[in-house]
Amino acid sequence: MEPQAFDPAASSAQPLTKGSVINRLFRTKPIDQILADADHPDHRLKKTLTAWDLTALGIGAIIGTGIFVLIGTAIVGDTHRPGAGPGIILSFVLSGLTCALAALCYAEFAAMIPVAGSAYTYSYATLGEFLAWITGWNLILEYGVACVAVAIGWSGYFNNLLLLAGFELPHWATHPPGGPDGGFANIPAAVIVLLVTVILVIGIKESARATGIIVALKLAVILFFIGVGAPSVNAANWAPFMPQGFAGVGAAAAIIFFAYIGFDAVSTTAEEARNPQRDLPVGIIASLAICTVLYIAVAAVLTGLIPHTQIDIHAPVADALRLVGFKWGAAIVAIGAVAGITSVLVVMMVGQIRVFFAMSRDRLLGPWLSAVHPRFGTPHRATVITGIGVAVLSAFIPISDAADMTNIGTLFAFVLVCLGVIVLRYTKPNHPRPFRLPLMPLVPILGMLACLGLMAFLPGLTWIRFGVWTAIGVLVYAWYGLRHSKLAAGAAGH
Ligand code: ALA
Repeated sequence: MEPQAFDPAASSAQPLTKGSVINRLFRTKPIDQILADADHPDHRLKKTLTAWDLTALGIGAIIGTGIFVLIGTAIVGDTHRPGAGPGIILSFVLSGLTCALAALCYAEFAAMIPVAGSAYTYSYATLGEFLAWITGWNLILEYGVACVAVAIGWSGYFNNLLLLAGFELPHWATHPPGGPDGGFANIPAAVIVLLVTVILVIGIKESARATGIIVALKLAVILFFIGVGAPSVNAANWAPFMPQGFAGVGAAAAIIFFAYIGFDAVSTTAEEARNPQRDLPVGIIASLAICTVLYIAVAAVLTGLIPHTQIDIHAPVADALRLVGFKWGAAIVAIGAVAGITSVLVVMMVGQIRVFFAMSRDRLLGPWLSAVHPRFGTPHRATVITGIGVAVLSAFIPISDAADMTNIGTLFAFVLVCLGVIVLRYTKPNHPRPFRLPLMPLVPILGMLACLGLMAFLPGLTWIRFGVWTAIGVLVYAWYGLRHSKLAAGAAGH
């Protein structure tokens, strides 16, 4: 145990001198303390999940709006970025490799510190409270803002399904305001978020079995698309391979990164894993590997089916089948996408609530946020705040803005996780590591460079927004967390 972490002189009642502020910014939460907190009988969770369950959970969180919807914008481009055209195949390889490097870092951490807070907890153990806060603040982008993009993606396929059945919702009710295509609000996106919020407040549990069924359905739909589409591929559609040069491929890799987010969600279920030291690395790496292979295949078939200029941006996978004459195939894909994306929305909402919960438990956010409802036994305040925020944003902003912000925040959190792995190898060389990533420190260094490289391909406006978001985060920390942190109060235990 590291004594500096429990310095009673740094109690929240103490004035903030220059020295105490610096100490607080860099104080780390000892790993033993993190493990003891999580193992406290008041909130110890049942350990039932196997390696299979964890892999299924990862796939359940990964396959969603990215592959079913954002792939369209990545191929075609928009006002903020050039498109990749068929080069999207290469974009998926680049983004997948970046995630593989980060996944190895997550795997080492998850096996070593198997508790629910994921990247936020890892940073607290290694990089100090300030960067832990910044990581948690970015996880709000990774989970909360991702839910916005996921809900808008859901709405795209829901509308597509209605269209296939001969109904059409009015334009104003399915598009956010602004732009040439603007409407009033994306009402189906907001409605699905509010429905999921109600379900989460009431506390209907996701069971491993329900996850398994949804995952099987998603995999079946993806394999169905590949199987039905492959024979109709016309290789002429793959030329030119990179119509807008490498700039298009890079920009697409940066937006399509969204499709891979979720493998790290496996680490948030660490406290429910039966044998976390062995099975978390398996779940993280296997779910990512399976999805990478499938994504590359989907990208190849989609761009081979129709000329890339004809690809739809709202429901591209289903629409491509419709264009080549498989109307029934399009309907099957749209049904699978609606069901599959709903499960991503649930996982990501729960992820956001867990992050709020962990930060509030450490008193970096107000304790009222982690209050549990007396009747339903759920963290209702964190849930309702998440739900309302996500619903409003999903009604009024474009999907690409939400995805870009999610990606920049997640990539930055990944950079900090890669950095943390290196730091911990030097500060705690002898701590047991059930999973050791290979080629240290090459893998995490390449991981950091790859994540920064993808960030560089995101639009300039996203960088400005990210700067503002980070500045707000620093202010909130200075105003609240710095003074109230449990660690600063010398009371990280119970
Ligand atoms: N990877 C998840 C999706 O594509 C977030 O929806």
